[in-house]
Order: sequence, then structure tokens, then C-alpha cells
Amino acid sequence: MGAQIIDGKARAARIRENVAEAVARLGTGHGLTPGLAVVLVGEDPASQVYVRNKARQTVEVGMRSFEHRLPAETDEAELLDLVARLNADPAVHGILVQLPLPPHIDATRVIDAINPDKDVDGFHVVNAGRLMVGLDGMVPCTPLGCLVLIRDVMSDISGAEAVVVGRSNIVGKPMGQLLLRENATVTIAHSRTRDLPDVCRRADILVAAVGRPEMIRSDWIKPGAVVIDVGINRVPAPERGAGKSRLVGDVAFAEAAEVAGAITPVPGGVGPMTIACLLANTVTAACRLHGLPVPPDLLSS
Ligand code: GUN
Repeated sequence: MGAQIIDGKARAARIRENVAEAVARLGTGHGLTPGLAVVLVGEDPASQVYVRNKARQTVEVGMRSFEHRLPAETDEAELLDLVARLNADPAVHGILVQLPLPPHIDATRVIDAINPDKDVDGFHVVNAGRLMVGLDGMVPCTPLGCLVLIRDVMSDISGAEAVVVGRSNIVGKPMGQLLLRENATVTIAHSRTRDLPDVCRRADILVAAVGRPEMIRSDWIKPGAVVIDVGINRVPAPERGAGKSRLVGDVAFAEAAEVAGAITPVPGGVGPMTIACLLANTVTAACRLHGLPVPPDLLSS
């Protein structure tokens, strides 16, 4: 195995330390405690785990956590009403509505009801636009976390060939914009891309965000490339016993690590970075809402 294994767990812990220090300074200097509201509709088990982790980590860094758990039958008007109250609440600086929402609720309408300056997920169309035109806004947490990891292992992203596999609004498209902002040459590939392995082989930076277990093989990877695996796929693991499962990424990790220069594992790579960046975004939102300078070191190593 030749590649450097990128430790996202340790990097996320470092970001949480930066955030905790910034939160302490905001408290003593300005009497300000950033607050994050997380809204969960229904009982999706994976979402419940995410929401619990977000709330725990929010409190651990010294911020206030507001959890709103609503039944699956909640109608859209009730949810929009809650979002309006959170928009108006001065103790709430970040609002996150956990996705997926039940099918009878229009997620786009709900996200676009959030005050863009409190949209710590960076999913609001205004924040997507700000990212595209180069204005300060809220940047989606998972691609932001990926960029932090890429910067750690690459001294110069400028001019690099970057291939992002996956074109979702949450990961693929904002990831492409962030890499473009760093002066990479960006290709966003997807399920209709012709000769996908060939396209991937061009990449100095390969970001996989397709949700297909171990789809990206070692012969798709340019020797020495930085490989960032956003996939979290649960697959059967009969070798661990009947009915057992394990998590794998979108990249066939063991063989890819023989070829790549640096690679994120699953779990322990990109996953922990998402919540860490969410906490950093909440501090950013609180500072901007109060007209205070955003601490420059929230994401530093
Ligand atoms: N569901 C899975 N990941 C996310 C995320 O980053 N934000 C929200 N709001 N929902 C999610």
C-alpha cells in the first residue's frame, strides 16, 4: 500500500478545537453564543443518528443546540412555520433541516424558506449562486470538508486536473465550484459520462460522490493522484457473521491505495469532516449576523 491515508477523524477533531476556541472568544469578548437549530421530520434511522451526533458535537464545542423533532405526518405549512420562527429567533444563527424529508414535503421550498444567512448547510439557491459567482456565502459542509483534506495534502491545487464523479446539488456541483475557485481544471462526470474510467484517469484530484459501492477501481486512478471518497455505502459482510454489514466507499479502497498518492478511508475520511464544517459554518453565520469578523483559523490544521 503506497498511498498516504488521510485521517479525516483527526482533522475533524482539530477543526472542532478551533471552533471551540472561537466560541469561547465570542462568549468572553462579545457575550455571543452561536446557536444551531436542527430540524428532523420523521423517524429515518440514519437521519436520527446524524441529528444526534450534530446536537452532541454542537454542545461539546460550547454552542447552543436546538433540536426540533417533528412527526412524519407534519405538513409542509407547519414546517414552513417552524422555519419562519427559527429565522426570527435571535438565539439561532444556523438552521439545518435534515434531508431526506418525507415525500409529501417539497424540500426545495423548505430550504429556500431558510434565511440564506442562517443556511449553514449552504443548500439555499442564494448560497449556491454566491458560491458560483465568488461571493462570501455559506458553503455546503461535505465539499468544504473535502477541500480542506485536499489542501492538506496538495501544496498547489492551481492548474491541477480535478474530476468530480457525481453531480448532486449537495456534493458534486459545489465541489466542482470550490475546486474551480482554487484554479483547478474541473470536470464533473456522472452516470451518462462516456468512458468514465478514462476521464477519471486524467485526474490529479479525484472526488467520488456517486453512492455506488467500490465502483472506482485502481485502474481508473492516475498514479500519485489524491483520491477523496465521499461514498458511505452499507454492504453485506457475511464474513463477519450472518446478517452483518460493513461500510465501504465509492472507491475500492485497498487496491486504490496501491496506486493513489493520498486517499481517504471509509469510515474515518470525509464523513467526520461534514459535521466539523457544519460547526465552523455556524460560527461563521453567527459572526456575520452580528457584524463581527469571521475567525480566519476555523478550518486550519
Ligand atoms: N442528509 C444527509 N446529509 C445531510 C446534510 O449534510 N445536511 C442535511 N440537511 N441533510 C443531510
